[in-house]
Amino acid sequence: MKILILGGAGMIGQKLLSLILQKKEIKSKKVSEITLFDIINAPYPENSSIPIITKSGDISDPKVSNDLILSKPDIIFHLAAIVSGQAEQEFDLGWNINTRGSWGLFEAIRSQGDSYCPRVVFTSSIAVFGDKAPLTKTPQSAFLNPSTVYGISKAAGENWAQYYFTKYGLDIRSIRYPGIIGYQSMPGGGTTDYAVDIYHSAVKNEVFSCFLDSETKLPMMFMNDAVRSTIELMKSPIENINTRTSYNLAGMSFSPNEIYKEIKKSYPSFRIEYKIDFRQTIADKWPKSIDDNEARNDWGWKPKYNLTSMTFIMLEKLKEIYNKTD
Ligand code: SER
Repeated sequence: MKILILGGAGMIGQKLLSLILQKKEIKSKKVSEITLFDIINAPYPENSSIPIITKSGDISDPKVSNDLILSKPDIIFHLAAIVSGQAEQEFDLGWNINTRGSWGLFEAIRSQGDSYCPRVVFTSSIAVFGDKAPLTKTPQSAFLNPSTVYGISKAAGENWAQYYFTKYGLDIRSIRYPGIIGYQSMPGGGTTDYAVDIYHSAVKNEVFSCFLDSETKLPMMFMNDAVRSTIELMKSPIENINTRTSYNLAGMSFSPNEIYKEIKKSYPSFRIEYKIDFRQTIADKWPKSIDDNEARNDWGWKPKYNLTSMTFIMLEKLKEIYNKTD
């Protein structure tokens, strides 16, 4: 079994790689090769028991997708994207990587003919929702009128996924990630990223400068849950997948003030200040909470972490990381 991870240098791609190598979620005996693709060469452990190949390039170039598909990977995790804040500022880049990248990948797979049918997991986002969707418990089938380049491009990707499934039978499955919080590496350019940065500031005894308003609630998820959901969706039998655009996925919801209060339980002198920027306008149009009943019913999705359990692990792990680098 060959695995291809697009976005392999990113926060989620790296965690996915480490889980596959730890043989936790996918039986590594069956994995013969892992290819990591990103705009830069992705780091990977040198003593890995599974051969790892890293490739770098621009996924919006169809030649690049075609080259990646030539080795006929059996499982493809498509995580490569320019996220919300960055895509608003560099919208050519955001549109090209997110839309042309996804379409180019699906088209490269299709052009190999019917005998090649890999399992593809395409990751979408809560950014596909806009102000026509209910803000709380946003349903799976809510109207999509995204307000950002990122959201528009992810909505297009979801529709391409459904199109290639319906018209050509490509087994593309998809989930709408909420904000993902992990300690392994730093995210870049997202609206939900404050919820990662805040833990780093706490552990480094710095005052945290928050670019969202104190009461802006957003849907979030701990990295371990996010990666597990991605693998569980990939492993789910084909007959259980009833949604071919993208599944809603929920973990927890909180505001900057709520995460701040949770951190303060361990760091009583921790301080936050608010310097609101353009990402507030993005966050205001996103859901506050998500209804993920279809994912729960179709493939048994269930999150394990809440704000308290995630905060405990984030602070413990970051303390270890910063103590090592001191
Ligand atoms: N984490 C993403 C962002 O903030 C949302 O999916 O852009």
